[in-house]
Amino acid sequence: MTEHVVRGSDIYTDEFAADPYPTFARLRADQPVCPVSSPRFDQYLITTFDDARAALTDPRLSKDLYGPGQHYLRLFGPNSEGLNKNMLNSDPPEHTRLRRIISQAFAPRRIEALRPRVAQIVDGLLDKIVPQGRAELMHEFAIPLPMMVICELLGIPEADHARVLDWTQVIRTSGSSRRPPEEERAAVQEAQLKLHDYLVDLMQAKRAHPADDIIGALIDSCDRDGALSEAELVTTTFLLLFAGHQTTADFLGNATLALLTHPEQFELLRTTPQLLPSAIEELLRFDGPLPVASPRIATEDVEYQGVCIPRGSVVGVVINSANHDPAHFADPDQLDLRRVRGPHLGFGYGVHYCLGVSLARMEAQIGLSALLRRLPGLRLGVPLAEVRRLPAASPFRGLLELPVTFAASAAS
Ligand code: HEM
Repeated sequence: MTEHVVRGSDIYTDEFAADPYPTFARLRADQPVCPVSSPRFDQYLITTFDDARAALTDPRLSKDLYGPGQHYLRLFGPNSEGLNKNMLNSDPPEHTRLRRIISQAFAPRRIEALRPRVAQIVDGLLDKIVPQGRAELMHEFAIPLPMMVICELLGIPEADHARVLDWTQVIRTSGSSRRPPEEERAAVQEAQLKLHDYLVDLMQAKRAHPADDIIGALIDSCDRDGALSEAELVTTTFLLLFAGHQTTADFLGNATLALLTHPEQFELLRTTPQLLPSAIEELLRFDGPLPVASPRIATEDVEYQGVCIPRGSVVGVVINSANHDPAHFADPDQLDLRRVRGPHLGFGYGVHYCLGVSLARMEAQIGLSALLRRLPGLRLGVPLAEVRRLPAASPFRGLLELPVTFAASAAS
């Protein structure tokens, strides 16, 4: 087994959390396939664009974490099956079966029909914010927006949103409190168990009162067609719930911060709103919420850049490094909202390409344009160095808080 030459403690620092891009540039130049001993698990990081794209479609890099090798034990620990044995952690043909059952619900035309309701949710959140002149945009806007949208789509009752959000936030922010790691792990496990039990109960309640929502359709697939097992009903719902709000929330936070720290780009977007669709792709390329794709496992010895990745190794495809590769993007560390839209990897690549891409784009378009329109004079409320972020070793890149100020006005 190759020695893991770069220790996580060398790269997963506070400076890395604030700005990981210089480290990624160093790795791309010096060690594009880099074995890293990270605080969570040892893995090989793949950092150039071409290698990343190849790895995301490489059948030798498996996503089947719950198969014969039981790789989930290393990655997620025991008791993770109840939530995580889902399409994201499986290979074809299982993956194909699980994805097919749900893909229609996220087809672009279906999602487009949600536009008025998403705009209403955005306006409702901003109505509360605009008279205040200041806000903490993560908790008052970026997190509740996608959470409310995905809960409504799935059919999670409004009365339950707050506790479901509490549990998912414990999972999202793990590692960011001052508690000892064992306490933190126990808190995450407890949140996962509660969320699992809640979803099991919810399925029974929804069977008693069938509704025209995604959970209703999944229950039909389970009960009528036998296409989904009872366990898969829960794991699929969890994946849609978690993937459906967590990444979008972090993206809205990262994108807003990027605009606030690039005032000329901010002004360009405010005065040229037709740039919005391509601006969203550039903001995602510039600072995406999923820095490393979910873990892959080498099913045989695999060679990239002359480095042998031994069978059984965990492989982390560093999306945020690939998206800053100068071989593919001119001036990659510049935010340039006029950049001609290139094929970034922010939504992944290959069979696991983001299922919710249309929804994510729509929420980002409606959310960001409303922020620009309704919060005049929007500014960071604290110095940049004081903006609190998720920890460096978190699987997600996002903000814990985004305090802002603006010119207060009456809600419209
Ligand atoms: C800006 C927001 C989002 C970003 C950046 C994002 C990014 C990604 C990425 C990179 C992957 C591939 C992961 C991998 O290959 O390891 C992925 C998969 C996935 N995403 Fe998203 N996502 C976003 C929003 C959403 C939303 C709103 C949903 C709605 C349900 C969603 C549902 C999924 C699902 C179900 C998968 C797994 C697909 C599969 O395994 O076939 N995502 N996402």
